[in-house]
Amino acid sequence: MDPLVLGVESTCDETGVALVRGTTLLADVVASSMDEHARFGGIVPEVASRAHLEAFGPTLERALADAGVDLDDIDAIAVASGPGLVGSLTVGVAAAKALALALDVPLFGVNHVIGHVAVDELVHGEFDGRIMALVVSGGHTSLLLIDDIATGVTELGHTLDDAAGEAFDKVGRLLGLPYPGGPHVDRLAREGNPTAIAFPRALSRASDRERHAYDFSFSGLKTAVARWVEAREVAGEPIPVADVCASFAAAVADVLVTKAIDACRVNGITTLVIGGGFSANSQLRAEAARRCAEAGIDVRIPPMRYCTDNGAMIAALGSALARRYVGDSGLRFGVDSSMSLEVVVA
Ligand code: KG4
Ligand code: ZN
Repeated sequence: MDPLVLGVESTCDETGVALVRGTTLLADVVASSMDEHARFGGIVPEVASRAHLEAFGPTLERALADAGVDLDDIDAIAVASGPGLVGSLTVGVAAAKALALALDVPLFGVNHVIGHVAVDELVHGEFDGRIMALVVSGGHTSLLLIDDIATGVTELGHTLDDAAGEAFDKVGRLLGLPYPGGPHVDRLAREGNPTAIAFPRALSRASDRERHAYDFSFSGLKTAVARWVEAREVAGEPIPVADVCASFAAAVADVLVTKAIDACRVNGITTLVIGGGFSANSQLRAEAARRCAEAGIDVRIPPMRYCTDNGAMIAALGSALARRYVGDSGLRFGVDSSMSLEVVVA
């Protein structure tokens, strides 16, 4: 029987604890401190750390109860050791180390971003061969070439400035929408015309593509939106908010999907996994489905509840490592707030 793996996630504002055996999810409990941050218009690290401390015990107990197992049944533990907020990571890693020591089981300090890809194995089954992964969230926008989720990850490119979700949140703020703005911009975009305004597609010209074939940049796009809105305001004209959102969202989805498909083609890969909180975005989902179908690429996107931060993604990656007998991390590893995306396990 495959080992029973406990996954612990505490990189940002979600405290997640999950149990996985093989690629079967047995329990997945998430507590979020987002409500405590919303009034500040961004995550307050100290508030998040304290919330993890308070949430960890009850979240663990509920996960064990949901799965109908005891602490003694756990065979291995995986904890996200980076990238993320130092204080938040420290709480999860300290808790996981204490448990691993007490239970005398192997501990894996794993990469949170790669977890966003691994979680898809719980939904659509084990990866069959090489895959391309597009991980998009409030903090990351990266293209990963994955030979093996446990042992072989190569980062082909990443955003040079804002992440896609961050750009959505900033555009949401400049349009006066509540924080986080991403989902609000998505909702309004569905009512607007995506071709109303020609916003720029950064790093897409032939000259940029030599050096930045798989890199992204969204800060110029965000500034272009701000300028366009300002010009309207100065002229005393009304702002067509839905059209601005739709045209902006179309620009983001276009660049993400174009580069992901290029990366698949160049590397001869026919499976694209899209993960991370931003994969909730309707425009990205629709564009990826349409263009990957045309290109003969199979797209795998986990359902929404597995796209935002959770313990299941960490347990899924831990399970992949445990199944392949990849060496564990011991108890001496630290947190790494800027962990390289090519490091699967500490
Ligand atoms: O992965 P995630 O939950 O947290 C990070 O690790 O960043 O991603 C959250 C980000 C936020 O920026 C949020 O506004 C954005 O993803 N987001 C969306 C949507 N849902 C979440 N952006 C656009 N459209 C959405 N539907
Ligand atoms: Zn995340």
